[in-house]
Amino acid sequence: HQKGLQVAIDGPASAGKSTVAKIVAQRFSYVYVDTGAMYRTVTLVALQAGVDLTDEERVLQLLEQTQITFQPGEPVQHVFANQHEVTEAIRSELVTNNVSTVAALPKIREALVDRQQEIARAGGVVMDGRDIGTTVLPDAEVKIFLVASVKQRAERRYLENQAKGITTSLVDLQAEIAERDYKDSHRAVSPLQRAADAVEIDTTTLSIEQVVNQIAELIQEKLAEVKNN
Ligand code: CDP
Ligand code: CDP
Repeated sequence: HQKGLQVAIDGPASAGKSTVAKIVAQRFSYVYVDTGAMYRTVTLVALQAGVDLTDEERVLQLLEQTQITFQPGEPVQHVFANQHEVTEAIRSELVTNNVSTVAALPKIREALVDRQQEIARAGGVVMDGRDIGTTVLPDAEVKIFLVASVKQRAERRYLENQAKGITTSLVDLQAEIAERDYKDSHRAVSPLQRAADAVEIDTTTLSIEQVVNQIAELIQEKLAEVKNN
């Protein structure tokens, strides 16, 4: 039996990372790991505890007391913090608007990167985030960097919200995404950055299926290469 590959998928908010990562993982029977959900969970726990989100030691203490686990689900994976389901709570506007602050704390990143590397050790994993190809899995056999215009990404968020019955302004969403892009790309520790050896896919005008097929093809090529060596 061939050992599964490590597949890293990075990119800015709403580029389509989690949607395609999940489908690609299913196709190859790999484990899907949503690292953004991990940063969102720490943020939620810190907000609920009412701690100052820039108090690194306090937030780290909370993270150390929090077991973050995933369970497969449709249309989204279920996320748990100490067995307590947080799948929906971690997608709230409040968490979304505060997650980049928590994700900039070096000790929080260090602790989560350790957990992510532990999960990926056995291979057969598709992991999505901001720093997977650069920091978490620098030796991943397949690295993808997904991008799309800010306008297109805001429209995707808008449609997602609409489906959930939430009315938001497209202009606000565009500003929120642009701000998070800026914060994620400019922080001191492992900023959002394309790994030198990542394949960039612009999804602005591509369907989910087209993106999935491109990535699946790259995985197939790599599997064939590994087999022949
Ligand atoms: O789904 P969306 O693109 O909105 O974001 P996400 O993937 O759930 O990630 C939420 C936030 O977590 C990002 O805006 C980053 O600030 C942070 N994050 C990170 O710093 N590193 C990662 N590997 C994943 C997420
Ligand atoms: O994980 P990330 O924030 O990068 O994005 P996502 O949550 O997977 O995707 C954001 C939205 O864009 C979802 O509603 C997808 O259905 C949609 N999408 C799309 O319309 N076209 C694509 N090529 C990829 C995603």
